[in-house]
Amino acid sequence: MSDMKQNAELFELAKDAMNKAYVPYSKFPVGAAIVTAGGKIYSGCNVENAAYPEGTCAEAGAIASMVLGGDTQIKDIYVIGKGDELVTPCGGCRQKIREFSSVDTMIHICGAEGVRKSLTMNELLPFSFGPENLEQAS
Ligand code: THU
Repeated sequence: MSDMKQNAELFELAKDAMNKAYVPYSKFPVGAAIVTAGGKIYSGCNVENAAYPEGTCAEAGAIASMVLGGDTQIKDIYVIGKGDELVTPCGGCRQKIREFSSVDTMIHICGAEGVRKSLTMNELLPFSFGPENLEQAS
């Protein structure tokens, strides 16, 4: 798939997911869409809860769907939210993405008009802790 076609398709998928978000408390819907190293596609939305801390982010939903689908390698992840600010993944989601990332992984931050900024995992979470740390310790 060409980069332009992928951007357009994944942007739409993330937007569809955002439009399904369950956000009665924050009223801030977020959508995420993943392309795996093998070219498979997964998406997710944020799902809030009356017990506020139990709410889950869009990235977490997309990652859960990916793992259920048998995949563990994120090539690209698209995240979309409302407003003019960059809706970058929260700290917890940076670590969740990190678990399934490689040096090739790109995080694409989208707004209403399309992709606003594309970042590497290392730009989003420098000096990160990951599975390699545990492997090297044993
Ligand atoms: N949220 C996400 O789903 N992903 C992000 O990257 C940032 C924040 C959600 C959590 C909560 O449901 C709402 O946005 C407001 O914080």
